[in-house]
Amino acid sequence: MTTAATAMPSTATDPLALIDVDHVRFYVGNAKQAAYFYAHTFGFNITQVADLTTGSRDEADYLLTQGNIRLLLTTPLTKDHPAAEEIKLYGDGVKDIAFTVFDAEKAWERAVVNGAQSAQEPRTLKDDKGSVTVASIKTYGRAIHTFVSRAGIYALPDFKKDPTGNLFMPVFKHVTSPVNDYNRANPCGLKYVDHCVGNVEEGKMNHWVEWYENVMEFKMFKHFDDKDISTEYSALMSKVMASGNHLIKMPINEPAEGKKKSQIQEYLEWHDMAPGVQHLALRTDDELHSVAELRRRGVDFLSLPDTYYDIVWDRVNKVLVENGHEPVKEDHERIKDLGILVDADDEGYLLQLFTKPLQDRPTLFFEIISRHGSQSFGKGNFKALFEALELEQERRGNL
Ligand code: FE2
Repeated sequence: MTTAATAMPSTATDPLALIDVDHVRFYVGNAKQAAYFYAHTFGFNITQVADLTTGSRDEADYLLTQGNIRLLLTTPLTKDHPAAEEIKLYGDGVKDIAFTVFDAEKAWERAVVNGAQSAQEPRTLKDDKGSVTVASIKTYGRAIHTFVSRAGIYALPDFKKDPTGNLFMPVFKHVTSPVNDYNRANPCGLKYVDHCVGNVEEGKMNHWVEWYENVMEFKMFKHFDDKDISTEYSALMSKVMASGNHLIKMPINEPAEGKKKSQIQEYLEWHDMAPGVQHLALRTDDELHSVAELRRRGVDFLSLPDTYYDIVWDRVNKVLVENGHEPVKEDHERIKDLGILVDADDEGYLLQLFTKPLQDRPTLFFEIISRHGSQSFGKGNFKALFEALELEQERRGNL
């Protein structure tokens, strides 16, 4: 199994070797309030803050951590901050999938030579305790990738030993919150970012697949076409790009022709027709525990058609037995009670469940996933899932 902790490359000779998902930055309208939403409903600890009290004059940032996941919630403090315009256009959502690298300047230079458009030239934030170098490139739509290299007390901590960790960057301060104590007593078990899915415009999927191959030096991992992912009404196409060490997988979706509106098209229409991040999949070792705890906390998950569990065990266990694997070991009744989706391939099975949108616009959502050998993305669930999604789209008047 590839994990963020074991995927570290052994040499620093490749400038685009990724060490970790450094953080995922959201632009939000009110980071102070959003921090409490992600802390209370998803079990993230509010660990560090940069705001007016720490000398940050143009934005407030909240660092939320759980396992090896770092979410950075940024809100603009002035109308001239670039986030202010983006929030007007897109609502709350993901701006940046940032990667830790050995040397951010070299990574950025290599990406630019490979054809990337720069979003921000390298700059180093430094004090007597250490330094952080950041440099960013543009990817699809409004999204960027920031390369981050760290030294001194700004190194990323070993999340297994010290999840709250070192200072994130100069200008941040550690904070405590009663919600963190609550989360420690009632863990949700989310460990790291398994994959990050982007929605792009119709006809643009292959363009971005090539972009990840050429610029980021990723490789194609899997692909699905509209025969795999379609219902009677709507469809999409998807290809999965993976970094060299499989630290991160970035599926890219485009809408496909159907009788009714694709969920990708709905996303684009509520995202000023700009491509962007559709969902982050967060990995857990214990899907049943995580989903039960998240439900208890009030996370709104997609619900499935009742018929899903009538056929799922035959479908999944048949694939597993044919490939010499044990059937799904978790209690089948509990899986059904928790509304969890199951899929299998030749390597094993996975359990997954998707939240409803995390904000009022039908844009970004989370997936909670655990893998038992399977390295795929739940292809067998797409049809059941899309029928559930279409029901939600219809409720929103967007089908
Ligand atoms: Fe996914």
